[in-house]
Amino acid sequence: MLKDKLVFVTGGSRGIGEAIVDKLSCSGANVIFTYNSNQEKAEALCERIKARGNEVHCLKLDVTNIEEVTSTLESIYNQFGVPDVLVNNAGITRDKLMVQMSYTDWFEVINTNLNSIFHITKSVAYKMLLNEKAGSIINMSSVSGIVGTMGQTNYSAAKAGLIGFTRSLAKELGKYNIRVNAIAPGYIETDMIEDLKDKGRKEMVSRIPLKRIGRREEVADVVLFLASRMSSYVTGTTITIDGGLSS
Ligand SMILES: NC(=O)c1ccc[n+]([C@@H]2O[C@H](COP(=O)([O-])OP(=O)(O)OC[C@H]3O[C@@H](n4cnc5c(N)ncnc54)[C@H](OP(=O)(O)O)[C@@H]3O)[C@@H](O)[C@H]2O)c1
Repeated sequence: MLKDKLVFVTGGSRGIGEAIVDKLSCSGANVIFTYNSNQEKAEALCERIKARGNEVHCLKLDVTNIEEVTSTLESIYNQFGVPDVLVNNAGITRDKLMVQMSYTDWFEVINTNLNSIFHITKSVAYKMLLNEKAGSIINMSSVSGIVGTMGQTNYSAAKAGLIGFTRSLAKELGKYNIRVNAIAPGYIETDMIEDLKDKGRKEMVSRIPLKRIGRREEVADVVLFLASRMSSYVTGTTITIDGGLSS
């Protein structure tokens, strides 16, 4: 489905990003993905994918470091060309009630989950335009950006911002056949929700119409849809994957 397409995924070392890298490379894409701190996991993923005969590269990138973003993207353009698909996946949480939240908790989350997307997308979208390349940009938002979640004012603000960013950018880039969409997962089984205690988890699952936490592969399936021609008339939208939680 993505044969010979070049895909760039941020935060591919684990969790949802790892599943996305795996799924898109299985579909024939040449994938370049980044990690921040988990070099060993990233390299292990690379080895697994290469053993299947697919082309894959992993690079160290802190998405909050603008100089690193610029130099990493330049080296990608020079070495591999302009990506056909950009998946802005890297993200963090620093949960606290707002009155107890430090400035660091606020700015780290906004910088990682929102500001970094501006820097990366600005560069990649411009290159797509210059190269007259049809493209797909996929931003990983969250249900917390739609309904709000206690303890997540920083995260909700960033993820809601990402939905607005997606809508506006889709309007700017549509005439160049560059599609821009967001995904809003609910609770997905990764390190990010590891801290949920047994009781909180049971209570949370009871509120999900499908009565279970989502699998990261289920998010990757939707990324594949948005990356491929199957979604050729889909832009400016946010697809929720939450087992019905926000319905
Ligand atoms: N899990 C959920 O329930 C859920 C729900 C809604 C939305 N999401 C969103 O889905 C995305 C992936 O979440 P996840 O659950 O897979 O999280 P995760 O398991 O905690 O993985 C986070 C990924 O982001 C990378 N990352 C973190 N900070 C970074 C930075 N400064 N620069 C570059 N990469 C950085 C990590 O790299 P290293 O491992 O190398 O540090 C890792 O690959 C996030 O945007 C998250 O907000 C998740």
